[in-house]
Amino acid sequence: MTPIVDIEKIRTDFPILSDQIFGKPLIYFDNAATTQKPRCVLDKMTELYTTQNANIHRGVHHLSQLATAAHESARQTVADFIHANDAKEIIFTRGTTESINLVASCFSELCQADDEIVITQMEHHSNIVPWQMVAERKGLKLRVVPIDKKGDLRLDELEKLLNERTKMIAVTHVSNVLGTVNPIKKITALAHTQNIPVLVDGAQSVAHLPVDVQDLDVDFYVFSGHKIYGPTGIGVLYGKTAWLDKLPPYQGGGEMIENVTFEKTTFNKLPYKFEAGTPDFIGSVALATALDYISNIGLEQIAVYENELLAYATERMQAIPNMKIIGTAATKSGIISFQVGNIHHYDLGMFLDKTGVAIRTGHHCAQPLIESLGMTGTARISFALYNTKAEIDQFIEHLEHCISILN
Ligand code: ALA
Repeated sequence: MTPIVDIEKIRTDFPILSDQIFGKPLIYFDNAATTQKPRCVLDKMTELYTTQNANIHRGVHHLSQLATAAHESARQTVADFIHANDAKEIIFTRGTTESINLVASCFSELCQADDEIVITQMEHHSNIVPWQMVAERKGLKLRVVPIDKKGDLRLDELEKLLNERTKMIAVTHVSNVLGTVNPIKKITALAHTQNIPVLVDGAQSVAHLPVDVQDLDVDFYVFSGHKIYGPTGIGVLYGKTAWLDKLPPYQGGGEMIENVTFEKTTFNKLPYKFEAGTPDFIGSVALATALDYISNIGLEQIAVYENELLAYATERMQAIPNMKIIGTAATKSGIISFQVGNIHHYDLGMFLDKTGVAIRTGHHCAQPLIESLGMTGTARISFALYNTKAEIDQFIEHLEHCISILN
């Protein structure tokens, strides 16, 4: 496998990386929140608005035909990227959150009171709250799989939680706080012995490691465009055809119908059944452009490179006195949450910002996890393919300086 050799060339593809913040070179370490966009994605959006803008699936005119073809070709690109069996298994949404809300809402229609949904202690609010909301409406029960001290899921506890009332397991692929990469294949294998479907939140994994939904044997897999170098406001729900066919529609409106009378509506086939309203074809095509961009670099190469950054940063951070890294699972993605002595994470974030370093602070939309760790928040750095060891060195220098002031 060839490593990412020309990192400097990759960096020039991202205009924002040459920016200065408070007169200092930007070191963007908040990639788990959102990634920066390569010029090809930005140019594609301008090109589409400038030359191909029309409503899709609704016009006989030339522009509408062009836009429709571009949107459907983007769907195929997404399907190929995650190795879905068929492009109709790809539903475009506004992001991970909307994808999970869609599944929770539609899936709950197939459930009875007292049925159980299993989630985990390390879930983002997006994979807790939608289930809680439908649980309240339908009288379902939420069960939570605990984690161990390192931040690994307790698979033994997961197994104990499953029973004939368990209707769904909803689990993140990579924790946005701990960086833990969960053993999805083991989870789907276990779940499927009991005919329980598995939804995987891929928001933090799909840009950082190769994802093959058929190999993982997931029933639903969801992610956001903006965390994979694409635009904000576009996301993906992958679902196995058999499940998507079984679910009732989510929102009603144009596009998702086959025939409407005042008495009765019949619904469109997949994937359109779940895409009510004018689809964001600029977003879908720009997302496909981002996927082509990183496919050309290679997901395996990206994973190897980001793991090198993770190992290097972890080693350098561990050498700092009073440094506590939160999340030490054996298999991690490029996310490091940390706490230094009693210094408040916000203070670290504010001081680092003044040195040009963008990090995230707080509970990272995973309040139950953070509280179970006895904390109010952490400081967090998270990598993307354009980060470098030189940036990590700079970050360590700035961090040590901040610590010397704040201590
Ligand atoms: N889920 C995003 C994060 O972890 C916003 O920062």
